[in-house]
Order: sequence, then C-alpha cells, then structure tokens
Amino acid sequence: MAGFALRTQLGVASAATQIEGGHADTIWHRWAAERGRVRDGSAPTRAADHWNRVEADTALLADLGIRHYRLGLEWARIEPSPGHFDTDAIDHYRAELTGLRAAGVRPLVTLWHFNDPGWFGDAGGWLGAEAVNRYVRYVHRVVTALRDLVDDWVTVNEPNVYAVNGHLFGEWPPGHRSLPEAVRVMSTLAAAHIAAYGAIHQIQPGATVCVADHRRRFTPKDPRNPYHRACAATLDHLFQGALTEAMLTGRFPLPLRAPRGVRPGRYADVIGLNYYSRGTISGPGDATATGVPVNDLGWEIHPAGLVAEARRLHRRHPLPLWVTENGTADAADSFRAKFIHDHLAAIAASELPFERYYHWCFTDNWEWAEGEVPRFGLVDLDYATQLRTPRASARFYSDAIANGAVTEEAHERWVAPQSYRIG
Ligand code: BGC
Repeated sequence: MAGFALRTQLGVASAATQIEGGHADTIWHRWAAERGRVRDGSAPTRAADHWNRVEADTALLADLGIRHYRLGLEWARIEPSPGHFDTDAIDHYRAELTGLRAAGVRPLVTLWHFNDPGWFGDAGGWLGAEAVNRYVRYVHRVVTALRDLVDDWVTVNEPNVYAVNGHLFGEWPPGHRSLPEAVRVMSTLAAAHIAAYGAIHQIQPGATVCVADHRRRFTPKDPRNPYHRACAATLDHLFQGALTEAMLTGRFPLPLRAPRGVRPGRYADVIGLNYYSRGTISGPGDATATGVPVNDLGWEIHPAGLVAEARRLHRRHPLPLWVTENGTADAADSFRAKFIHDHLAAIAASELPFERYYHWCFTDNWEWAEGEVPRFGLVDLDYATQLRTPRASARFYSDAIANGAVTEEAHERWVAPQSYRIG
C-alpha cells in the first residue's frame, strides 16, 4: 500500500525527564550522577532544555501542523518534598498547556513516566508501603490544578519496562536484581493506575483516562516447536499479559497479586498502547531474530506486530485504541519515514478503531540509561547548541497530518527512496 487515507489522528509524544533539563531531585538525576550508570555519561540536567524553551517548542509543534501532543509532568518539580506542592511549577505547566491549547494542540498528559522524586525513592520507591497513597495524593493535587486545561490523561507509563529494568536487570534505578521484587512493583504500579483512574474520574468525570501499556510482540522462532511456543507464551504472560489484565480489569492473574482494596472493574476509557518491536523466542529469554529489519539499537522493525497486539487487546477489552507511543532510533533519518509509513499503513488496513497515534518522539531526547546517543526524534536536536532542526521525516509526518492521508506524492518523495538495514 503506497498512498492511503488516515482515519487516525496523528500526534507526537514526549516525557518530562527526557526533555526538560534542570536539577530536580529525582531518582534518575541521582542515578545519572553515579559513574557508569548512563552509557555516555550524560544526565537529564541538559536534555532538550525544554523547561526554558517551552514557547519555542510549542511554536515548532504548531508550525509542523501537529494537533495532538502527549507530554509528561515531572512529579519532583510539582511535589519537591512530601506533601509540599510547588505552585510555581504547577503554574509553569499551566502556562505550557494554555499555550498549547491556544496553538490548537490538544494535550494528553502523562502523570508518571519512569521517574520519582528523590524523597519517594528514599521511602522505598514503589516497594514502599505508602507508595500508592503518595502517588494518588500527587495525582489528586495536580489533576485538580490542571483539569480546566486537560481532558486526556495517562496515569502511568509502561510499568513492565520500569519494573524489569529497575528491579530485575538492575540497569535503571533503583538498580535491583530480583524477580519477586519486579513482580511486586508491577502489581503496585497496576494498583497505582487503578487508584489514579478512580481519583481522576472523581475530580473530572468526563476525562479520558488510560495507561500507556508497553506491548512487545513475542513470536516463537519455530511456530511448530512446542517448546518455542511455550517459552513465547510464558514471556508474553509474565512481561505483559498478566499486567494488562490487572490494570484494565482489577483482576490480578498470577504471579501478580492484588494489593488490598483493589476491586474488579473497568479501569480504562481507551486502550493506550506503546509498541516498538518484537522478540523471536526459542528459550526462556527474549531475543531478536537475525536477517530482519532493525533500527539503530538493533530492535526489529515489525509493523504487523502493532496491529496484532492491538487486536489481542481490543478483543478482550473492546475500547477505542490510542497508540500512545511508536517510533524508532534512526540517527541518519534514513528509514524513519518508511517506518512511520509502514506502521500507519498497517493501522489503516486494519478493521480496528485506532483513534489516535502519537509518534515517539518530537525532538530527540534523553534516552534513560542510553543517554543522548539514540535519536528517536522527528526533530534533530544539537545538544550543545540546543538547535532544533526538523528532519525530512518530520516533513513527511507534517504532510500526512495536513492531508489526512499519505499521498502518492508523499510516498514517492519521502518513503520510496528509503530502505531498512538488515540485522
Ligand atoms: C519509553 C520512552 C523511551 C522509548 C524509546 C519507551 O519504552 O516510554 O520513554 O524513550 O521507549 O526507548
């Protein structure tokens, strides 16, 4: 499919810690200050200096014709010490949201995206007995303060990715290596989402609330091999199946355990899906196939997986679908337009109700333990000068938004010349 019409609204996504810069006291600022924790030694103190460049960034979004923007709030800025809320920080976000709306951009706001205030980490982070209550106190405060400017909320971003990297592989803060702990953190973050879902609807009954649920596609290397199939199914259940079920229904399948007070119900107004890649499984661990298209980080590019995961979710939870993240690391911008085209084509060809698609990400941003190296942005960022330069893929995306379609001309110009690297 070369050209095609879009039924889905297109937007871009970002996260506070990855773009704002500055010296908030967060678990990630502390982590990055330790030697060897971040691949290139960079820290979130620089990032895209977005905190000081909000107006210019909003103008750039508007210039590109972008009408939907997923952005995050930095909890540590809003609540720098327990129970103390910083009205200047809240006003800063109010000004940003007001500016976005004035520019015709609809915000989708993420309340938690992998980062905690330092004091929350000191109190045990997501293992602390009061974790959910503390998070909900913050949610309550900030949603009350911003409800006149925001209709769409993401409670938590990718609890599985955070739990696994921080508590099983030890590569993210708090740097632990324990499977039972990772499972516990998943249960707690699911409970946090459920509590936030209820709190937001109490404050703002008409809000649309979802979780940004990271789903990977797990396929058996040899589909006829029962061992490969069993390993793929087990990984799928442990990494995402049980968690999605818990977050969306309040029923916690094993090995998760429902924290006290959580009741079955429906805890999402739309399905929020983050999708990047697929694993090809022939044993107990995750793996990437060889001879397949890959991005700069070696992640397989597999557009059909987005629709396959969306279909699984939608069958079980028949709600509208928002792709809350999808994107790729491509420093040379040599296949990003094709990546976008292929994922949008898969969406357009499916029968599923994909309402929105947020491309990850707007400008290049600080990639957690990978630092400043991977380039996911539609807009190139020169970290030293902070100069923003839209890549050709941004022009392609802009064109698709303006036309409500990928036109034959756009395909000829931006997509046809591109090809994927084979890993
Ligand atoms: C996360 C983003 C991250 C992206 C690319 C997602 O899992 O939500 O914060 O930048 O992947 O690695």
